[in-house]
Amino acid sequence: MKSVIPVQLSNRLSNGYLIIYSFVWDTKSSSPADRENAVKDLPLNPSADRLATDLVELSALSDRDQPGWSREVFGEPYREARTWVARRMQDAGLEVSSDGAGNIVGILAGNSPGAPPLVTGSHTDTVAGGGRFDGVVGVLGAIELARCLRESGTKWTRDLVVVDFLGEESNDWGLSCLGSRAVAGELSAADLSRVDRAGVLLGDRYQQFDLSVDSVLSADWLRERRPHAYVELHIEQGPLLERRRAQIGVVTAIAGIQRLVATFTGRPDHAGTRPMDDRRDAMVAAARAVLAVQQLGCGAPTHGVTTVTNLDAGTASPNVVPASVQMKMEMRSIDRSWFSAAQQQLVGDIAEQAAREDVDVDFIWTNDNEILDTTLAVQNAISGAAENAGRSWVAVPSGATHDAVHIAGICPTGMIFVPSKDGRSHCPEEWSDVEDIAAGVEVLGRTLAQLDRAEKVT
Ligand code: GLV
Ligand code: MN
Ligand code: MN
Repeated sequence: MKSVIPVQLSNRLSNGYLIIYSFVWDTKSSSPADRENAVKDLPLNPSADRLATDLVELSALSDRDQPGWSREVFGEPYREARTWVARRMQDAGLEVSSDGAGNIVGILAGNSPGAPPLVTGSHTDTVAGGGRFDGVVGVLGAIELARCLRESGTKWTRDLVVVDFLGEESNDWGLSCLGSRAVAGELSAADLSRVDRAGVLLGDRYQQFDLSVDSVLSADWLRERRPHAYVELHIEQGPLLERRRAQIGVVTAIAGIQRLVATFTGRPDHAGTRPMDDRRDAMVAAARAVLAVQQLGCGAPTHGVTTVTNLDAGTASPNVVPASVQMKMEMRSIDRSWFSAAQQQLVGDIAEQAAREDVDVDFIWTNDNEILDTTLAVQNAISGAAENAGRSWVAVPSGATHDAVHIAGICPTGMIFVPSKDGRSHCPEEWSDVEDIAAGVEVLGRTLAQLDRAEKVT
């Protein structure tokens, strides 16, 4: 890892989708043993004011030419923001570096440097036209936790490793969680050979961001350190906590994501002369497919969502019956049996709709991530910590994906949610109250303190 020399801090200081879950775990109490084990005497008082200041400063580092707060991976505002994050980590007393995959890493040394470390963090990139809290809360919350530990003179046994993972949001190359995949050893040369719409290789985009393909592919340092546990603080991005009036969400599972590109091929004809009953209209076939996709999601018995995100008729002229349309969709679920059956059903449904228009259709599926069940011992540590902090909590699934999915491949993993106003996310209106975020930081700290004491997290 190389040291981060903050180049220049910007002084620009001005400045989901809604998943309808049909299935929520009931609120339950943590066991007496969890409460007994939970750390009760931790002097931990996260500052809502400091968090608010950091949120405002970081949100100012966004793309002014886009609506909302846009800081897409590899963009200039993102580059500036990484320098800002590194500086904030340094100010909090963390030893800061950037790794070969572009992650910003801050370490607060524990008393036993050789012990498997505790890891926390999240991401600071956004979707285009996104909000100020998604991912950011986990990074700024971890920095605030480090400040609190330093101020109170608390030193844990284990190192606390804080990571701002590069590029968590899905991008034009169709791959989310670039940085967390890299440190977990999940990023492959084939991934870096993906091309975006403009034909640019992902590997070349990394190079333009001063990261070589070799360094990205050999950045699996976190796997090498065999972490003790990973706990990520994040906004819920959905409506469940608000509806249940709970301050904390203990995440039980993270939805798997399958993406599909369906290409409809019909026949070009004159739009003014071709009779309506003698057309092979790829657009009409695609439109029927959109509704089939929606219906499939509506029929999920426990949890499942399906979304068509894009229809592209290429350079279709205004007076030609569309001959080719590409449809992009994604489906997510935490319900394994529905998820695999639904993929097969969808292919059948779309083919049937295309046949009605005498249109051919081809399918390309890609998997973004499998369904993840978080580690039970970490869930219990979080709920015990919430109770000891006097915070109400519920167990919830996550329909959004997270860096945690990939870190779970190398260590026990859990996630803490704080409420999102009206469940809105991936939009400028995304909002979480800073007092709720501070409560989340407290629960994060108490959870990690408890895990620090555990010899093994199983
Ligand atoms: C990221 O926020 C995702 O769930 O796609
Ligand atoms: Mn996120
Ligand atoms: Mn997101």
